[in-house]
Amino acid sequence: MVYGVILAGGIGSRMGGDKPKQYLNVKGKPIIVYTIEKFFSTPEFEKIIVLCPKQWVEHTKNLIEKHIAPAAGKVAVIQGGDTRNETIMNAIKFIEDEGNLGDDTIIVTHDSVRPFVTHRIIEENIAAAKEFGACDTVIPATDTIVEALDNKTISNIPDRSKMYQGQTPQSFNAKKLKDMYNALTDDEKAILTDAAKIFVMKGEKVALVQGEDFNMKITFPYDLRVAKSLLEEETDD
Ligand code: CTP
Repeated sequence: MVYGVILAGGIGSRMGGDKPKQYLNVKGKPIIVYTIEKFFSTPEFEKIIVLCPKQWVEHTKNLIEKHIAPAAGKVAVIQGGDTRNETIMNAIKFIEDEGNLGDDTIIVTHDSVRPFVTHRIIEENIAAAKEFGACDTVIPATDTIVEALDNKTISNIPDRSKMYQGQTPQSFNAKKLKDMYNALTDDEKAILTDAAKIFVMKGEKVALVQGEDFNMKITFPYDLRVAKSLLEEETDD
């Protein structure tokens, strides 16, 4: 069974403004609606779980009714957690409460603020998570990556041809992720903010899925301007 998990539990502090960035309008629709649309039009999903701050749950349900009414039956909107990983855990708990947390249940977790994800990326995530138990969407690093352990001077310059930039989706065997996360100490939880890293730290394989440059995350006001132009290009076609 494959679930889509859209992570919208953040408040967008780096974007600023009076609402979380996933609810900002771009060309007449909130960013989160574009992202849900991409998942809704992927037939492999049993259900799509959208996790957002508690006070935004009703609003999110209304947005789905307004913009993608047929999706309402297939999309559950629930409360996210205090951290991104806790938000993912809330999704897994929902699946467990539905009685569907089997040994081969897959979750495709995706940032609500990456509306340009493609069906190719989602489908390759599903296939890789089924085969390897976990996968991460990445693009080759274009800039040289410089490591500075003291944040002042360079300690290492890794070979760029082996460096990638992480995007989402990240997809996992849900039961495995839950068991590994629950086995972490509070200190480990504080460090392992990336769910794929939990697998890596435990010596588990995480496969790479090829992302796209345009599968950008909207983080800062500048990104919003880029996203607007990309959407304008899409609608001009
Ligand atoms: N996210 C989440 N639950 C949290 C924190 C983040 O579901 N407790 C989601 C965000 O809503 C976003 C994605 O994870 O879609 C990527 O996180 P990021 O871009 O860091 O979003 P925010 O945490 O909202 O932004 P900021 O760090 O600027 O506050």
